[in-house]
This record gives sequence, C-alpha cells and structure tokens, in this order.
Amino acid sequence: MSPVSTGIFERLESEVRTYCRTYPTVFDTANNARQRDVGGREFIDFFGGAGVLNYGHNNARMRQAMIDYMMADGVAHSLDFYTRAKAEFMTRFEEVILKPRALDYKLQFPAPTGTNVVEAALKLARKATGRMDVIAFTNGFHGMSLGALACTGNAHFRDAAGVPLDHVLRVPYDGFAGEGRNSLDVLERELDDASSGIAPPAAFIVETIQAEGGVNVASREWLQSLQKLARKHGSLLIVDDIQVGNGRTGRFFSFEDHGIEPDLVCLAKGIGGYGTPLGLLLIRPEYDMWKPGEHTGTFRGQDLSFVAGAEALNYYKTPDFLDAVRGKGEGVKAKLESIAARKEGIRLRGRGMIYGLDFGSGERAAKVIKAAFETGLLIGGCGTDGRVLKFMSPLTIEDDTLSEGLDLLEQAVREAA
Ligand SMILES: Cc1ncc(COP(=O)(O)O)c(C=O)c1O
Repeated sequence: MSPVSTGIFERLESEVRTYCRTYPTVFDTANNARQRDVGGREFIDFFGGAGVLNYGHNNARMRQAMIDYMMADGVAHSLDFYTRAKAEFMTRFEEVILKPRALDYKLQFPAPTGTNVVEAALKLARKATGRMDVIAFTNGFHGMSLGALACTGNAHFRDAAGVPLDHVLRVPYDGFAGEGRNSLDVLERELDDASSGIAPPAAFIVETIQAEGGVNVASREWLQSLQKLARKHGSLLIVDDIQVGNGRTGRFFSFEDHGIEPDLVCLAKGIGGYGTPLGLLLIRPEYDMWKPGEHTGTFRGQDLSFVAGAEALNYYKTPDFLDAVRGKGEGVKAKLESIAARKEGIRLRGRGMIYGLDFGSGERAAKVIKAAFETGLLIGGCGTDGRVLKFMSPLTIEDDTLSEGLDLLEQAVREAA
C-alpha cells in the first residue's frame, strides 16, 4: 500500500486529467530514465515527458547549474528584462547551434509552453504576409490554445474548442493520401489556379515527424516540395519542432537532414533542459516585424530555464552526444523491428530516438501500455484512437537501462497484443 494514495487527485482534480489515468500511481523520485513511486516501485521511462526530458530526469549538470545560480541570488523572474542568465543562454545558442549550421535567426521567447510559441508564429506569419489563412496537415498537433488548436487535427481536442476554429485549411500529410501519392501535387495545382477557390496561405505549419499524430515521418522529398511551394506563393514555412527538436532525431533540429530552411521554427519542451519550461521562436530576420511589446507575456524571462537550457546546449559542443543518440537509435530500431515482426499487424515508424509501434487499434495498444506499466515500464500512446505506442526515452538513457526497458516492452507485447 502506497503511503500516499491517488484519492486526493480523484476527489479534487478536474476530470480533464489524462496520463495519470493510464499510470495510476503517485510518483516521487526520478533519475535519468528511472522513476520511482511513493511505494518504492521502479519504472523505466520510455515516455520522456513527451519530449521534455531529453536529458533525463534530474540531470546532475543542470541541477548544479541552477543551484549555483540560486545560491548566488540570480534573478529568477525577469519578463523580458536583460539578465545574465538570458545573455548566456542566447550566446551559447548562437555559438553552439546557429553558427555551426550557418543559420540566421532572431530569437523570441514568447512564453513557457509550446502552444504559446505556435500562437506567436501564426500571428507573425499573418502579420508578415497580410493573409489570414494557414495550411496545416492531417494528424498535426500544435497545442490547445485556439490558434494552435485550429491547426491541430484531432477531433477529440477540436470538439472542446467551443468556438469555430477558423482560417486553417487542412491538407493530407505525407503518406496520408496513400502509398506513392504526393498530397502536395493537387495543392500545387490549386494554388496555381486563380479560380480554384484556394488562395496562397500566410504559412504552412508542419511537423517533420508527427509525434502526437502517430509518429508519421515526412520524407525529405515531400518537405522539400513543401518548402518550394511556400516560397513560390510567398507563404512562410513554419516547422513545429517542439516535440522532435532538441536532438530527438539525432540532429539538433529535426529538419537538418532534409535540406530545408524554415522561415519560423517553434521550439519548447526540451529547450529548457531540466524540465524547466521555456518556449523559443526562431525567426528569419526579414520576418521579425514585431513592434515593441506587440506580442507580450509575463513569463517570457524564465531564468532558471535559461540556466538549465544553456547547460543542455553544452551537449552539442562536440559531435559525441548526437553520435551516441544515433547509435542508440539504431539499436532501438533493430529491437522494435524484431518485436513488430513477431506479431501480426504491427507496423514500425520513426527515426533517431522516436519510434512508433502502430498496433492498428487503440484497444490493442492500450492493453500493451497497461501490461508495460504492470511490468515497470512507462510508455505512451499516440495517433488516431491511441493506436500507436510511442518510444521516447531520454536521449541520455544508459545502455543497460535501455535494453532492460526494451525487454520489458517485448514482454508486454508478447503478453498483451
Ligand atoms: C509538435 C507540438 N507542437 C506543440 C505542442 C504544444 O506544446 P505545449 O503542450 O507545451 O503547449 C506539442 C505538445 O505535445 C507538440 O508536440
């Protein structure tokens, strides 16, 4: 019996709660890819805070940097005042991320969460082009505030909006229209034809891998034709890298291998390093058309997040970290392929350190998630009806913990699928 029960949550917390229903215990401590509940049960974490915990739980380097900052009376909250913590984060981001990739972006810190960053991106694209409509994709997930929700595909989330979700046109994502059919071909013809009824949009907003949408991976060719289309029609290309940026694909940005250069890039989740919230919009300088204070917010200056986030960027100073991520990813892929091959109707998708096992039915996937939880593994569901199991461990996971977790997953699939 746990010393703390789930009763307080069930009695007092809103019905809106979700993940805790799948993992009905009270968590207490965590370190890298292992979490313990109040009863001392240990779990291996393949959930990874949905892209927040890329550097693991309680990363010792980031924790120490934050402790040192606090003990020196470092400013903890600063709206958009200039602070030392922010200067250090920005300097490191420029030196470690932008310069080596020859990328030229201005930085905007709109607010702590991903949906805030998406709102800023949409608003800026509309302002820059003077156009209202945005094109988003089937199964896209961009957040819960109204602008971002309008770009999100999932009916469960959309139905709760309470108002019309306007000014977004939905187009099939790569692969949605069926094997070998490029969903952008028709769109291109429509945009080329002034009588098609479809006007060029302010922007295209796209995830290179749709994480919440079911780990759907867009091809290099498709993303390149999307960029071409955007450029041809004077629309901005927004890449939402909130979940699969920050090293998840084996590159810092998920689009690095694709030969595209988005006009706006949305980052959040892992950019704060420790799980400390931070949102960051990257803006091609010519589109930085904001007037001072035109898009504001109280929590723009998250100094503890700047401190932890700057420490996280140290991982990218040498190629070792991303080399290790890609190496681990290969091992994960091989193991998941063998798991998928042993049962009927399981398909594997993914890249780097994000993989989806598509069970074809939400019911079947839910059974595996439950069995995994019972064997001591945390893994989440995504995609239509939750039919895809999403592997997303911390990138820093130790090799032995990773293989132990994959064995637990194999066992859960054997027992439940
Ligand atoms: C691609 C993507 N964009 C936006 C969001 C929204 O981020 P947040 O939940 O921090 O508002 C998410 C969250 O899962 C996401 O995966």
